[in-house]
Amino acid sequence: MNATLTLDRAYTIGRIDPRIYGSFIEHLGRAVYGGIYEPGHPRADSNGFRRDVIELVKALGVPVVRYPGGNFVSGFNWEDSIGPKSRRPCRLDLAWFTTETNEVGLHEFVEWCRQANTAPMYAVNLGTRGVESARDVVEYSNHRGGSYWSDLRIANGAKDPFGIKLWCLGNEMDGPWQIGHKTAVEYGRIANEAAKAMKWVDPSIEVVACGSSSSEMKTFGDWELTMLEECYDNIDYVSLHRYYSNPTGDTRSFLARSIDMDEFIKTVIAICDAVGGKKHSKKKVNLSFDEWNVWYHSNQQDKEIWKRDKWGRALPLLEDVYNFEDALLVGAILITFLRNVDRVKIACLAQLVNVIAPIMTRSGGGAWAQTIYWPLLQASKFGRGTALRAIVESPQYDCADQEGVPEFDAAAVCADDGSVTIFALNRSLSEHIHLSADLRDFAGLTQASHQILHHDDVKAVNTETNPDNVRPVSTQGGMISSGKLELDIPALSWNVIRLTA
Ligand code: AHR
Repeated sequence: MNATLTLDRAYTIGRIDPRIYGSFIEHLGRAVYGGIYEPGHPRADSNGFRRDVIELVKALGVPVVRYPGGNFVSGFNWEDSIGPKSRRPCRLDLAWFTTETNEVGLHEFVEWCRQANTAPMYAVNLGTRGVESARDVVEYSNHRGGSYWSDLRIANGAKDPFGIKLWCLGNEMDGPWQIGHKTAVEYGRIANEAAKAMKWVDPSIEVVACGSSSSEMKTFGDWELTMLEECYDNIDYVSLHRYYSNPTGDTRSFLARSIDMDEFIKTVIAICDAVGGKKHSKKKVNLSFDEWNVWYHSNQQDKEIWKRDKWGRALPLLEDVYNFEDALLVGAILITFLRNVDRVKIACLAQLVNVIAPIMTRSGGGAWAQTIYWPLLQASKFGRGTALRAIVESPQYDCADQEGVPEFDAAAVCADDGSVTIFALNRSLSEHIHLSADLRDFAGLTQASHQILHHDDVKAVNTETNPDNVRPVSTQGGMISSGKLELDIPALSWNVIRLTA
């Protein structure tokens, strides 16, 4: 098969907000306890943070990490997570039927972020709590001192404010499973009032309102319209959440799911702009895709864990073991974000460690990168600068949920140093694609390097004992001559092609 790609310096989508390479740590399963935190582990530092995990997180280059939930946050009292550890209460977590010890809390997470070279994106509880606790936690975290909550932070050992810039107004409040689930009007009202109060305490913060927990919710669309009517003027972003699965093993349909993601994004943009138009507002509300991933491998195992050990601590929940095809879909979704950077400003791969995560650990043992770690690492490393409008011509196929799926998909980024990176996917199970790229006024770029992620078995996984089974390898970079690049893209592969002078 043949495909073409045309890039022109003048055709851009927009600057890439690095926060699209964000991630998520929830107090769920072994994300915190046994994940980022394991005192007594041979690689733990004096705070109990695992240094091997921090190294893997730092290499990923995640600029923001959403915390502490997730469904967890809708029953969480942030005040339980501050002050001397010995006095912090153990609470039942009704979101995940476990017991939360609060051993890791706000101060510890801020310190972990500092060490991991990232920044917290902090969610407030709009399920069982409300405006008052949302206001208080902003004052505690960001006010310089001289007030009740800020002085308590100082008394708890943090003289300088945490300076948390990004806040989520609750989590998935459209979902009946959520503690304190609300109607769109109820949620829009409380989100608006919380946002006002939080911004009165610290006008420099940005806030994310809950959109739908999935585009498959019956209320999707109506939820966004209704809640935005209530809170449009005081919020900065609307959240989107989406997880995909492949229970029938239909790889072709699975790899086409990024198109569904693109349609979801476009629909939410249209709704935001419709509400803005109706309000005669000059303001644009942007998108925070703050939960996305593949999630299904661990579903059955979780049911058994709850049967056995309901209310246990740090249960091994949502421990999906990702395979090669999952990494390909993650790559396809990253291409989708790069195509929508004019409106998608934040995205969080859910989650970061152990819980539906790119990084796995064994308690007392090693830490390793799952298959999905690699496309995120490469996009985060090379996908910074300006997203180019990549014009792709490719053969197409039809599958169960989608017609006209391009066999070859690509996005391109021009970095500030002038180099260009092409992220490309071949969805064909058996055929390589011969790519002809027209680089026009990028003719000064003469060197091409090419990294390929491929495995002959779509179900291949990485494990503690075989951590490099699925990982990118470098190959012959192809020829650039007179602004034209000719390259072979192997069947079923994720590719990172770097063009430099
Ligand atoms: O990421 C796991 C869960 O998925 C989150 O807690 C929730 O927000 C979503 O339903």
